[in-house]
This record gives sequence, C-alpha cells and structure tokens, in this order.
Amino acid sequence: MKEEQKQEYKRKYEQAKQDGVKFWPDIIYKDLLMSFGLFILLVGLATFLGVTPQPKADPSDTSYIPRPEWYFLFLFEFLKFIPGKIEWVGTFLIPVLAVLALFALPFLDKNPLRYWKNRLAGISIMGVIVLGMVGLTIRSVITTPKQEEVPIADTIQEQIILGQEFYSVYCVECHGPDGEGGEIAGVEGLEGVVLKSISSRDEMYTRSDETLEAIVAYGQQDLGMPPNGLAYGGELKKAELEALVTFMRYTWDDRVDIPEDAAAARAIPEIKEGEVPSYEVHISRIAQRYCISCHRPGKENNEYLMGTYQEILTTGDNADNNMIAGNLDSYLIQCITGESIFDPETGEEIIQQMPPTKLMREQYIKIFEAWVLNGMPETAVEAELLTSEGQTE
Ligand code: HEC
Ligand code: HEC
Repeated sequence: MKEEQKQEYKRKYEQAKQDGVKFWPDIIYKDLLMSFGLFILLVGLATFLGVTPQPKADPSDTSYIPRPEWYFLFLFEFLKFIPGKIEWVGTFLIPVLAVLALFALPFLDKNPLRYWKNRLAGISIMGVIVLGMVGLTIRSVITTPKQEEVPIADTIQEQIILGQEFYSVYCVECHGPDGEGGEIAGVEGLEGVVLKSISSRDEMYTRSDETLEAIVAYGQQDLGMPPNGLAYGGELKKAELEALVTFMRYTWDDRVDIPEDAAAARAIPEIKEGEVPSYEVHISRIAQRYCISCHRPGKENNEYLMGTYQEILTTGDNADNNMIAGNLDSYLIQCITGESIFDPETGEEIIQQMPPTKLMREQYIKIFEAWVLNGMPETAVEAELLTSEGQTE
C-alpha cells in the first residue's frame, strides 16, 4: 500500500471517530435490521420446531409448584421481601422507578469518557444491580421446593400391579378384562362395535412398547378409542402410561414371563368348599377386574358404583334389590348369572346381563353367590368367623 493512501485512510478514520455515528438514523437502522432478523428466526422456530406440549393445567393438582420463567425469578424472589400489604411497592413502584432512572441516565451521566476506570460510579451501581439480580435468581432456585415425584411403582412387580389397576379402570369396559375384545355392549356410543383382541400374539408381536404407549396416550379417536394421556385430554401421567404398558406386555406377551410374586399379588384367591368369601379379599378384586371400568362415577351404569364396600351395598337405581343378604334373587346375582331384569310393570328390560359383553368365569360367579348367601361380610376376619360357624353347625 502506498504511503499517501495509508495517510488518506488514517485521516478518514480520524474524521469518522470525531463525528461519531448518529443514533438516528444509523443506530436505529442497525437495530431494526437485527430485530427483524430475530423476528424471522422466531417465526421459523415456531413454525418448524413448535413448542413442546406440556400437560394441561390441572386445578386439582395440589403438588404443582408455580414459578415464573427463569428471567423473572429475581423479581419473584425480590417480592418475597416485601410484606403483602404493600405489595404494590414491589410490583409497581420500584420497577417503575428503575425504568424511569434508565430514561434519566443520559441526562444524569454526561461523562464523555469510555474507559471503565473513568466511570467507576456508574460501573459500581450497575455492578451491584446485576449482582443483586444474579443473587436473587440463585436464591430463588435454591428455595424452590422439589416438585413432589408422582408416587409410582419402581419395581417391575409393582408396575404390573399398578398397571393392572389402570387397565381395570380405563380399558375393561371396551376391551374386556383380558384384552380379548369382541362386540362392545353397555358402553354409550359404541354399542355393537366389534373390537379385535389387543392381547393376541399378533398384537403383542407387532406393537412395540413405544407404539402401545402412543396408542394409549393419543387414543384412536376416529375409531372410538379415547385418549388417556394427560396431555391429550386423558387422566394418566407418563409414568402411569408406562406402568399400563408394562402390565400389558408382561400379562399378554408369551415371550416374557411374569414375575411370580406379581402374578400371586394380583391373583383372585380361590375359595374352598364351605369357605365364606369377603369383600376385602375376594369381591373387591373381582369388582376391580370386571366391573369398576363401567361402575365408576361418570359412566352409564344406573348410578351403581362399585368402588367401595358401602357403594356396592347401597348405590344404584335399584339399590333396594341389588344386594339382598341371603337371597340369590338379588338383582346383582341374577345379572351376573346371565339373567336380564325386567320392569314388573312395563315389562321393559332394565338391566342386561353383567358384564354386558361376556359372563365372568364360573368360579367368580360362585364367589359372588357364596358372598350374598352369607350376608356380604366386609373383612377377612368376619368371613373367617362365618366360615367356622358354618363348619360347626
Ligand atoms: C370407549 C372404548 C375404549 C376404551 C375405554 C379403550 N379403548 Fe382401546 N380401542 C377402542 C377402539 C374402538 C379401538 C380401535 C378399534 C380396534 O382396533 O379394534 C381401540 C384400539 C386400541 C388399541 C390398538 C389396537 C391396534 O393395534 O390397532 C390398543 C392397544 C388399545 N385400544 C388399548 C387400550 C387401552 C390400554 C385402554 C385403556 C387405557 C383402552 N384401549 C381403552 C376402544 C376403547
Ligand atoms: C361394559 C360396562 C359394564 C361392565 C363391565 C359392568 N357393568 Fe353393570 N351395568 C352397566 C350398565 C350400562 C348398567 C345399566 C343397566 C343396563 O344398561 O343394563 C349396569 C347396571 C348394573 C346393575 C344394576 C344397577 C341398578 O341399580 O340398576 C348391576 C347390579 C350391575 N350392573 C352389576 C355389575 C357387576 C357385578 C359387574 C362386574 C361383574 C358389572 N356390572 C360390569 C355396564 C357395565
């Protein structure tokens, strides 16, 4: 480069440094360009990546700990120092004063020097503010209580048992107690629809755990299968969906063996000749497996709930006739043995066989009958007393 050219550049550079850059329009123009670029980036991200879906807000969830986004945590923490009565000082007055101070800054500080040692006052004030914000943010993170973990099973056995409970409540009404499918009966809107088996070898061999979980979470709404995932309008959290799938896999897939203690824990105990069954040991489990899916609140069931001992004995449009101690003509016994109940006046069918799709195994029907004949004891102790009385007679 020639010497005079060099001189020329130097002179221009000095000149530019002297003049400075104009805020309007130079800086504003640059800022506009930059924010437009960011805007396009945001639109792109929103369109192509989207926002990760979070579960819907659940007003009944008392374990939820609300916190603002991380960049507001310092303000949130700051508010904790201000008594509730004068909250407006923290939420309004101080923030407004701070913003006003920013506006006033160019008028307050006219020091033209840029080197930090020449601006100690300004730097220190800003330093304290920034440190304060960082400190408050850290404090806020530390003082946030841990989100309580959903109590969910951790061993395979516990998962299977829990999964079975979910299956009983949410799936049996359509898919049957063993996932066998068949023609649906007694379910509003799906009467007569025929389901394929979801416990078949075909199903188990072709569906991975992930696929099953996805089907159960989203449902197959065009076919009539409701969503079960919390995020899609159902009631099950992720860990609960996983337990459900674990149950399905271990129970129906012949390539895996169910752990023995899990099998034992969920088995419905058999009764011996002359043994009196109890609600606690027998009926609650049978009801859970075969009835609860329809006989819970919010389902079409003649208002007959089977969630507790009391409910089984006292609810239902036909509560007076459902359970009559010692009487096998109790409506419940009639319908689980395949009889329909007809209105004595109009002759209309008021209760169909129960479960509507397929009768239970003979041994469970026998347990229900023995229970009613012996006056429906609640606890195992009561049932044992009755058993020994029966034997001494
Ligand atoms: C209201 C009735 C209903 C309920 C309740 C229901 N489903 Fe379904 N389900 C259906 C229908 C209808 C289909 C689609 C028809 C078919 O595949 O035979 C289906 C399909 C499925 C399939 C897919 C079969 C396949 O491979 O295409 C699986 C798996 C399944 N359901 C599991 C469940 C589980 C687990 C639950 C309980 C959380 C459940 N369903 C609750 C009605 C229901
Ligand atoms: C697929 C859903 C479904 C299942 C599973 C089911 N029920 Fe029902 N249940 C109904 C419906 C629907 C009614 C209302 C009457 C009707 O439509 O027949 C009903 C009514 C009854 C009633 C009459 C209640 C009253 O006061 O009128 C009894 C008793 C009953 N069910 C017992 C049982 C028992 C016991 C089981 C389990 C072994 C069972 N149900 C399983 C759907 C079901």
